[in-house]
Amino acid sequence: MATVLITGANRGIGLEFTRQLLARGERVVAAYRAVDGATDLQQLVKANPQLTLLQLDVADNESIAAFPKQLQGEPVDIFINNVGVYGPRDSEFGKVSGKEWLDVLQINSVAPLLLTQVLIECLRKGKDRKLLYLTSKMGSIADNGDGGHYVYRSSSISRIKAISL
Ligand SMILES: NC(=O)c1ccc[n+]([C@@H]2O[C@H](COP(=O)([O-])OP(=O)(O)OC[C@H]3O[C@@H](n4cnc5c(N)ncnc54)[C@H](OP(=O)(O)O)[C@@H]3O)[C@@H](O)[C@H]2O)c1
Repeated sequence: MATVLITGANRGIGLEFTRQLLARGERVVAAYRAVDGATDLQQLVKANPQLTLLQLDVADNESIAAFPKQLQGEPVDIFINNVGVYGPRDSEFGKVSGKEWLDVLQINSVAPLLLTQVLIECLRKGKDRKLLYLTSKMGSIADNGDGGHYVYRSSSISRIKAISL
């Protein structure tokens, strides 16, 4: 059984990763932002003693810095940095807001590296030592035929691809 840490686990792809890993018998540490109370995760935890829920807001550097305390030094075998936001849908020339752009860069590009830095000792202690960072083909330079979408594209290009432990 591996211990898998997943961020943004309360909905979307992160929730599905959580469900499928639990079904495989893995131990899952699911990090979520407490906006809606994470109803699905609360239901899952009742039926799955190998699931632990932790709170994390990656837009908040203090929340990132405090996160390892919640893990209490537990080894993490697989880290899935799943959190990502699209930001404003209309980020075309003439409509881009610097504040919104920087907010998206913080979540998609800066936070994954900061989070990995603060978790490095737990990650080094893990058996598998696999780090997975979700990104998007919107971050592909080769695939960018139609331009636009500056905010999400730039934050996807600059997401972490690999880190050496
Ligand atoms: N869906 C796609 O078609 C697609 C395609 C390519 C890449 N991706 C990438 O795949 C990943 C997951 O996508 P998705 O479609 O599952 O996204 P989603 O349904 O919008 O879910 C995003 C998750 O990130 C969390 N999140 C957002 N801001 C956060 C913050 N500041 N701190 C902590 N958690 C935060 C959300 O929590 P809240 O519920 O609290 O907001 C939610 O759990 C993203 O990195 C995305 O860029 C998705």
